[in-house]
Amino acid sequence: MNLILLGPPGAGKGTQAVKIVEKYHIPHISTGDIFRANIKNGTELGKKAKEYMDKGELVPDDLVCEIATTRLLEDDCTDGFLLDGFPRTVYQAEKLDEFLEKHGKKVDKVLDIAVEKEELMQRLINRRVCKACGATYNVKNMPPAKEGVCDKCGGELMQRADDTKETVENRIEVYNSQTMPLVEYYEKAGNIAHIDGAIGLENVFNHIVSVLGE
Ligand code: AP5
Ligand code: MG
Ligand code: ZN
Repeated sequence: MNLILLGPPGAGKGTQAVKIVEKYHIPHISTGDIFRANIKNGTELGKKAKEYMDKGELVPDDLVCEIATTRLLEDDCTDGFLLDGFPRTVYQAEKLDEFLEKHGKKVDKVLDIAVEKEELMQRLINRRVCKACGATYNVKNMPPAKEGVCDKCGGELMQRADDTKETVENRIEVYNSQTMPLVEYYEKAGNIAHIDGAIGLENVFNHIVSVLGE
């Protein structure tokens, strides 16, 4: 199963990805996570990506495509994958289609998760992420049992550098202008499913399972 998670910042792509990979046993590939790991390790790629990410702008297409396709060539992607946050422009989608076609594959389903702007803002400004294992919390509606501490591994919780009010606003604008056109792109391809992302995470997941099948 070759899947794409589409949706604005804060729609719950990462949250649903954890549940999807657990159920369907496919690797979770988040270009945002790959960049953040590179920033943490101080690589050249990380330095380049950080310039854009801190402003809430998109990292240049060719750089992202190179990273994503290299990752898709790894062995664990043979029987499927879940892309989270890639593609994000029509150019990236075309490059992905070319790449998959070359390898005799295709995108099976695009899960387009929609949430209103006000809710997205609240979710991102209140998000906390575990430094050690990456688990996601929300101080308002999904707090950890102990403030600042990860329930799963005891790691320290932190705020993402791009989760400030100004940057979140810009990320949503960038999504609307550069990523929204992808909905039409996949609408034409006939493989998109629209998911209401504002109904609680278990309900969202149940809807996704009904689309993908048991
Ligand atoms: P990326 O890391 O992909 O971030 P994003 O798309 O902005 O999305 P987020 O990770 O912020 O949100 P999410 O949808 O995963 O939500 P989450 O599950 O955490 O990209 C970051 C940056 O990297 C980009 O800005 C860009 O610069 C660069 N980049 C990455 N890919 C690129 C590409 N292809 N091209 C160019 N540049 C690229 O949930 C959010 C919050 O809501 C959490 O607190 C969670 O607990 C809560 N929540 C989740 N679900 C629910 C629910 N159902 N109900 C209530 N609360 C919920
Ligand atoms: Mg995410
Ligand atoms: Zn943790």
